[in-house]
Amino acid sequence: MNSIRLRPLSRLFLALFLTFAAVGNTSAQDVGAAPAVSKEGVAPGATAAATPATAAAPAAGGGDAAAIAAGDALFKGNCAQCHAINDVVVGPALKGITKRRPVSWLIPWIKNSSKMVASGDEYAVKIYNQYQKQQMPSFQLSDTEITSILAYVTAEESKPAGAPGADTGIKPTDGANAAVDGTAGGDAKYMDILLIVLVVVLIVLVVTLVIIANIMKDVLRGRKDLDGRDVEVLETRTDWTRLYKSPVLRGIAGVVFVLAVLYTSVQGAMGVGLQQGYQPTQPIAFSHKLHAGENQINCAYCHTSVYKSKSANIPSANICMNCHSQIKTESPEIKKIYRAIERKQPIQWVRVHNLPDLAYFNHSQHTQVGGIECQTCHGPIQNMEVVYQYSPLTMGWCINCHRETPLNTKGNGYYNNLVKLHDSANGAAPFTVSSNGGTECSKCHY
Ligand code: HEC
Ligand code: HEC
Ligand code: HEC
Ligand code: HEC
Ligand code: HEC
Ligand code: HEC
Repeated sequence: MNSIRLRPLSRLFLALFLTFAAVGNTSAQDVGAAPAVSKEGVAPGATAAATPATAAAPAAGGGDAAAIAAGDALFKGNCAQCHAINDVVVGPALKGITKRRPVSWLIPWIKNSSKMVASGDEYAVKIYNQYQKQQMPSFQLSDTEITSILAYVTAEESKPAGAPGADTGIKPTDGANAAVDGTAGGDAKYMDILLIVLVVVLIVLVVTLVIIANIMKDVLRGRKDLDGRDVEVLETRTDWTRLYKSPVLRGIAGVVFVLAVLYTSVQGAMGVGLQQGYQPTQPIAFSHKLHAGENQINCAYCHTSVYKSKSANIPSANICMNCHSQIKTESPEIKKIYRAIERKQPIQWVRVHNLPDLAYFNHSQHTQVGGIECQTCHGPIQNMEVVYQYSPLTMGWCINCHRETPLNTKGNGYYNNLVKLHDSANGAAPFTVSSNGGTECSKCHY
């Protein structure tokens, strides 16, 4: 008798356990999905996190903030592709340089290092030989500019230990990214914990209620003054099989199933031909994060035609060789570049972005004339290890931006009359790309 009464109870536990497992499972998926979300979120975050780091440098270094900021920019523009503070890149790590060499030596060195080597300066010759006789380029920088670069280096190296990249050999950007990823993941985890706590509280509540109900039943059974109907009510058990047979429940399940199927097929149909998020594996593990991010190589250094012509080119292996004839020559990935050159075959990069032939898109119109940043359309490329398609590249996407983006008409006589006409007809509405016919079919379709 007792064991029979317990059966529904154990079923209840089983049901609760299954719900719990299901909830646990979905939250685990959330955790897995978090990095994917932060992939896009990182962009502004990382730069935001990186800026305070460099802005904090003056405080740590105690130097002149303006000079350090200027030095930061100069360093990134001229030196960062070959030098880091703590790591050997092409040239030596610059940490402690002002202690190694006096400023009176550093200034002529940076202006023209080969002249110093040629003059037979002992240290210059030594370091030149130590770095396989690679010539550091000469720089037409003023003395003040050079001292500000040195101030920046000093400020960077005296950042407190434990700060990102201080002594660990980790590049500062890595630290910033990790921190951002960490908080993004942390938020997701926090929500998961909350969810789990809620479920546990619910289970405890249900179990307590069941126990109380059973105790009360037992108490009632002990009473002698119950009539037949009371006993009947007391002894009715939930009939689970009736639940399965219930037409209402079946109806609900059916509707949910049909909706789910409809939803996925509509999603699928809408996605035909669209490849947002497309991220193919490339034949060489080329990283934009490493090149355009950490080493600050300008996009147009490789994509040379992006400001000049309709399409942006993918760089040929020769452009890679400008640096990789010297850098990382032993890396198996770099050897793939050498092999391509030996075989006189281009590297078979897999194309990521691809508009259908019926649409006309012109890069220089957008980057040079329109002044739009690459990142507006391509996302945080400088943080991508592997490039993925960030924007949907649909017609709606193009047209939305044309409707919203004011056209830069200042200082361009061609627009004067058009703007006047537009303003008299539309009052305060801005003169956008679409005001200039940017949503006419023929502008984008041949
Ligand atoms: C194309 C690569 C390249 C660039 C760009 C470059 N350097 Fe160098 N630098 C080197 C190399 C290589 C050496 C090692 C000496 C040699 O081989 O000539 C070096 C050496 C140095 C040294 C001596 C380091 C030591 O430990 O004694 C200093 C200082 C220096 N560079 C500063 C700068 C500054 C400042 C800039 C930017 C204005 C800069 N470099 C840009 C490649 C570069
Ligand atoms: C050192 C050379 C180099 C630099 C610098 C560089 N890229 Fe690239 N980029 C490449 C190579 C090589 C590929 C092809 C392989 C790949 O997709 O990763 C590529 C691919 C791309 C693609 C995808 C093209 C496609 O297949 O549809 C985009 C978009 C892009 N780069 C944008 C940028 C932007 C924006 C910057 C500057 C923030 C930049 N690149 C800097 C070399 C470079
Ligand atoms: C302006 C200089 C420059 C150019 C141009 C350049 N790289 Fe690099 N590349 C670097 C630097 C710096 C590193 C980092 C080396 C290190 O980690 O010590 C690097 C690292 C790499 C690595 C990682 C190697 C490894 O094993 O860690 C690959 C792969 C690579 N580059 C491929 C390419 C390809 C492909 C191109 C041409 C599309 C190219 N690079 C053009 C400067 C350059
Ligand atoms: C207004 C949006 C927009 C901007 C801004 C933009 N691109 Fe693109 N980019 C595109 C579209 C759209 C494609 C696909 C073009 C195609 O398939 O014909 C593309 C394709 C590319 C490709 C692949 C080669 C090609 O031309 O098809 C590269 C590389 C590239 N972009 C680099 C860049 C760089 C570097 C910048 C910044 C200097 C930049 N893009 C700015 C929208 C943009
Ligand atoms: C981020 C905003 C943005 C996106 C996205 C964008 N455009 Fe544009 N587009 C502009 C701006 C701004 C101009 C005006 C440039 C100028 O002439 O000053 C422009 C101009 C044009 C023009 C020339 C229009 C004219 O009146 O001469 C064409 C064609 C064009 N875009 C096609 C496209 C296509 C195709 C796409 C989608 C694949 C696209 N654009 C996506 C901002 C955008
Ligand atoms: C700002 C640029 C732009 C303008 C203006 C524009 N389109 Fe498009 N259109 C595109 C792009 C880009 C695609 C390809 C996008 C895709 O594959 O989803 C496209 C695709 C299409 C397609 C093919 C749809 C498909 O799914 O294959 C048709 C049809 C079309 N456009 C008609 C028009 C008509 C009609 C107009 C004028 C009312 C117009 N477009 C104006 C950019 C534009």
